[in-house]
Amino acid sequence: MKNRLNITTDTKTWFNRWSNKYDCTLGSISFHKELLDLIVRNSGVKAGDRILDIGCGTGLLSLKLLRKKNCFITGVDCSEEMTAIFKDKIKRLKLKDVVSVNLMDAASLKFEPGTFDIVVSSVTLHHLKHKLPALKTIFRILKSGGIFIVGEVDMDTTGKHTDPGRLKRILRVLEQEYIPALKDAGVEALFKMYDNGRKHILNEGEYCVSLRQWAALCRKAGFAPVGIKRVSNHKCFGIVSAKKP
Ligand SMILES: C[S@@+](CC[C@H](N)C(=O)[O-])C[C@H]1O[C@@H](n2cnc3c(N)ncnc32)[C@H](O)[C@@H]1O
Repeated sequence: MKNRLNITTDTKTWFNRWSNKYDCTLGSISFHKELLDLIVRNSGVKAGDRILDIGCGTGLLSLKLLRKKNCFITGVDCSEEMTAIFKDKIKRLKLKDVVSVNLMDAASLKFEPGTFDIVVSSVTLHHLKHKLPALKTIFRILKSGGIFIVGEVDMDTTGKHTDPGRLKRILRVLEQEYIPALKDAGVEALFKMYDNGRKHILNEGEYCVSLRQWAALCRKAGFAPVGIKRVSNHKCFGIVSAKKP
């Protein structure tokens, strides 16, 4: 079922329901924090930069970027509840002059060409079944010389669901999510990652590809050079950073 933003209602509902527990589950797991740090370190953010955060959620990545430099953030997300939490933080931290948050589908970003110095996205773009059109739009709305960084789980879920090799490949990555989830954030986080794992296996609103596949898609969209870096303690998480020539 599709809604006004043309997002499958399931993904939106999933995040609306998760929103209140997001920061104390996924948001508190070491691999997620380290992934966001890796994005910020490699963004090259400078004072005054205009940054788009796609799938900003509760604002964890945007706030890290703002802590690093005085930049201007535009956050977009499809979930009213996730963005409501981010908006509360913006109010509490008195950041309304430097951050704006909009409900928008990552698959149809509405910005003028050459708007942003940097576009970032963490664990969001794998929700798009058709990634290349979105990457082409990101290329278009970046300034020349602009940087795109996508942080994702390095998990190739393509192929037939009946292929045991595919399942084995996915389970190897999921194991590396479940153990830190339990250690860092407790049983509730483990349950959430476990539920999520089922969605990855069945491609229910989750269409993860490997970091190499992300890199190839970025090159196809026109980016060069394109590089991959991994979270040092959690090698199945990493970033693809891509430059608009
Ligand atoms: C796992 S959360 C990541 C949030 C944040 N980037 C972080 O790392 O903490 C994924 C976010 O993507 C949003 N999302 C999923 N599909 C989307 C789409 N098609 N368009 C916009 N946002 C989407 C969800 O609502 C959710 O807030």
